[in-house]
Amino acid sequence: MSNRRMPAGGRIARHVSALPPSGIRKFFDLVTATPDVVSLGVGEPDFLTPWTIREQAIYEIERGRTTYTSNHGLIELRRALSGWLEKRYDAAYNPADEILITVGASEAIDLALRALLNPGEEVIVIQPCYVSYAPTVVLAGGKPVIFPTHQKDGFRIDFGALLPLITRRTRAIIINYPNNPTGATFNRNDLEQLAAFACRQDLVILSDEIYAELTYDARHISLASLPGMKERTILISGFSKAHAMTGWRIGYACAPPDIITAMVKIHQYTIMCAPTLSQYAALEAINECDDDIVSMREQYDMRRQFIVREFNAIGLKTLMPEGAFYAFVSIQNTGMSSEELCAGLLHDEKVAVVPGTAFGACGEGFIRASYASSYENLELAMERMGRYVARIKHDAHKGAPCRHNHPHGMRMP
Ligand SMILES: Cc1ncc(COP(=O)(O)O)c(C=O)c1O
Repeated sequence: MSNRRMPAGGRIARHVSALPPSGIRKFFDLVTATPDVVSLGVGEPDFLTPWTIREQAIYEIERGRTTYTSNHGLIELRRALSGWLEKRYDAAYNPADEILITVGASEAIDLALRALLNPGEEVIVIQPCYVSYAPTVVLAGGKPVIFPTHQKDGFRIDFGALLPLITRRTRAIIINYPNNPTGATFNRNDLEQLAAFACRQDLVILSDEIYAELTYDARHISLASLPGMKERTILISGFSKAHAMTGWRIGYACAPPDIITAMVKIHQYTIMCAPTLSQYAALEAINECDDDIVSMREQYDMRRQFIVREFNAIGLKTLMPEGAFYAFVSIQNTGMSSEELCAGLLHDEKVAVVPGTAFGACGEGFIRASYASSYENLELAMERMGRYVARIKHDAHKGAPCRHNHPHGMRMP
């Protein structure tokens, strides 16, 4: 037996032990344990990947596409992406050295942070946001600095309030628009302010634009298309959302050559290349599926209108999301915490939504409902939610002690 001492905290690295479990995971363990749930919880399209993509992948298997590709990804895919990004977003990238194909946008975020950060350097994380940003900064050896945004400001960035958080060690800001979970997006004016701020403070922006194609009322503007911004932007996106390809695991990063070269260094040692078959599938998606995107977006749009109308009708204030497929619903007038309401709703009515706190502390007082779910599911969920809210309102008016023992009781109108 070895007499070497185990480090305090066991054999797991301290920074990994200290990471909290994802708020979504925790909640979904509860959901899985509850039968007959109507789930508006997951952030994944309910549509199958368009048939032409699946068929092309079958064909590529038959052709024996079973080997590695270049570390950067298939050159045909990078060329097609380059043309697509330029046509749709005025973002011109050289397929040879400014585009890297990754295992989902998730890997692109991880590589970008690992390529940029020296130990202890800081990254501004704008919350509420996608659950992975802050933990990924920590895993890259950096320090996430949280900047909260609020519904009253349309979840926009107040640059006056952000300025004091910038230190000598700040390297980057992570933004995501259209946003998961709020559905808010940035217009040209927002982006110009952000660009001016980034230039003044000499910061890199990780711009996660994975929901760009799911923008409903306006045209998505890519940060990299603003003058002077391509040099300091890492554009991150992928095929999971608008192309309904979550399981294929294809994303990409576009950035200046020095950053892509650094990201490829890590990628070549850890991943080698994104799955070959999935890269061919993504090529078909880029070349042939613009109409599929339009028809899925139309479906999401109808569901968006429905769900927002219903939430407001049952007394839960909900802004119209401008993009993505989430409604971020204020539950402040119930007097319940986000977690209490989600747990109560799941228990009493078997409807799953995600507590706003899963996306940062400033998400307290909100729940996230995904409308990437069939119309029938949404109708059923809203009927049950209406019943639940009516019941807590009724209990509150009777002066009954709050269900779930919330100390503040109910403040429903
Ligand atoms: C904002 C955002 N970025 C990135 C991802 C991860 O995407 P991928 O499946 O491409 O890794 C998600 C998934 O929910 C997301 O919401």
